[in-house]
Amino acid sequence: MRNLNENNITDAVIARFQGCDDPRLKAVLTSLVKHLHAFVRDVEPTEQEWAFGIDFLTRTGHMCDDKRQEFILLSDTLGVTMLVDAINHRIAGKATESTVLGPFYVADPPETPMGGGIGWNVEGEPLFVEGQVRSAEGSPLSGVVVDVWQSDGDGFYDVQKSGMDSPSLRARFRTGADGRYAFWAVTPSAYPIPTDGPVGQMLEATGRHPYRPAHVHFMLKADGFETLVTQVFAEGDSYLDSDAVFGVKDSLVRTYEQRPPGKAPDGRVVERPWRHLSYDFGLKPL
Ligand code: BEZ
Ligand code: FE
Repeated sequence: MRNLNENNITDAVIARFQGCDDPRLKAVLTSLVKHLHAFVRDVEPTEQEWAFGIDFLTRTGHMCDDKRQEFILLSDTLGVTMLVDAINHRIAGKATESTVLGPFYVADPPETPMGGGIGWNVEGEPLFVEGQVRSAEGSPLSGVVVDVWQSDGDGFYDVQKSGMDSPSLRARFRTGADGRYAFWAVTPSAYPIPTDGPVGQMLEATGRHPYRPAHVHFMLKADGFETLVTQVFAEGDSYLDSDAVFGVKDSLVRTYEQRPPGKAPDGRVVERPWRHLSYDFGLKPL
């Protein structure tokens, strides 16, 4: 293995994995080298360009800590997160489609009684969210753990706001015997993903906007079913066709219906205009 050149170096590198006794690792690294070398052959980077690429990835790593994951954001904005999601959640029948988790999920959100509010301390237009969780065959599922989280009407999650030390606009519900869930929130708005790091520079340099259409996040867990991570997007939002992270699917778009002041479906009297979002979920058996 001497005198390697641009025609034979790929095979030479791949041959070095011959002794790897983990077949999956061997397959993954072989494919990585093949595609990485093909990328370099395609792009023919100058040495300065390659150094810039290394520096970009280094800065991406330096941006990461326990609160910020710039590599996931890079994966999101290059469409890789949604590609991995699509490969791992090929949906059949009436199961709800999945989409990107995003960086703002916090594990074990506060348990909240059915029908309760998750944003009483937040300014914004009231939003009543309700629906039913069913098996993909259509039977109601009780005891499903439904985690919800969302931005406020200005597009910020609680974890992005300084001085906010208790959870807000995030909660955990459990479906009742009828499989239903319900809660009060505020109408979310479109918002930009974090742009103060290398990913923001990439978006700026390529003329891309950083916005996501307004949505509410859901994570549903039930024994015997695949965990569902998804979002319900607001019909009419101007970013539905250009989501910065490629997460919108038609089946996840609903009208957040405008309602005048008055009685809501749960009997609550709302003194200002409010909105109603109804969404039923189907879970896929394991
Ligand atoms: C979100 O919807 O919370 C999100 C998803 C991907 C990147 C940034 C934010
Ligand atoms: Fe979000």
